[in-house]
Amino acid sequence: MAFPTALWREHILPFTLLMTLLMVGTLAGDYLLHRLDLVWVGRYLGIPGTLLLIASLTYSLRKRKLLLTGNPTLLLRLHEFGGWLGTLLVLIHAGVHFNAILPWLATVAMSINVISGMVGKVLLGRARRHIQTQREHYQLRGLSRPAVEQAVFWDAVAFEAMAQWRKVHIPIFMVFATLSLGHIVSIFLFWGWQ
Ligand code: HEM
Repeated sequence: MAFPTALWREHILPFTLLMTLLMVGTLAGDYLLHRLDLVWVGRYLGIPGTLLLIASLTYSLRKRKLLLTGNPTLLLRLHEFGGWLGTLLVLIHAGVHFNAILPWLATVAMSINVISGMVGKVLLGRARRHIQTQREHYQLRGLSRPAVEQAVFWDAVAFEAMAQWRKVHIPIFMVFATLSLGHIVSIFLFWGWQ
């Protein structure tokens, strides 16, 4: 089967668009703040961004039964949307200023975190269903088992690569949280924003 496949068109492409929107939103936000002479607003955007990221963790607590109430589906939506929007605000907050290494390391970790999260949550479930439907479709058309596997080969390869996300998502979150905490504590210790 030729690549790009339906998996690419229907799943990877929307995911790429969402990522592109994040990048374009960051650049546009930063540009506007500079254009309107509101760079100081960007500094404060770190706070709502961080709060949204923290709120999005409710889902993780619920999933691990550390929180016993709350609709899981709704919390998952909050996790995905809050994670995305919080990341956008923090990226605009980071802007294009390069003075300190710690917050930039936190930003890199956050970016890997959001990408791995989106791969896992947005792409993986849908991709799994997609490949299953393809398999059933070919089986119904009477293809032999090896022929079916041959037909879904590239989709399966792409899926396996995406399935690595779990190995990245949680450890990188720990790194991200630690670095962010370091940045936030040092900011409040030396509070003096103009
Ligand atoms: C409560 C949350 C936060 C507050 C109050 C905050 C505050 C600030 C302030 C005041 C600055 C400007 C420092 C300066 O100009 O010297 C700054 C810069 C920055 N922050 Fe935050 N921040 C927060 C969260 C975050 C998070 C979660 C990240 C990344 C994941 C982040 C990444 C950055 C980056 C990359 C910069 C630019 C550093 C540079 O100039 O080199 N911030 N932050």
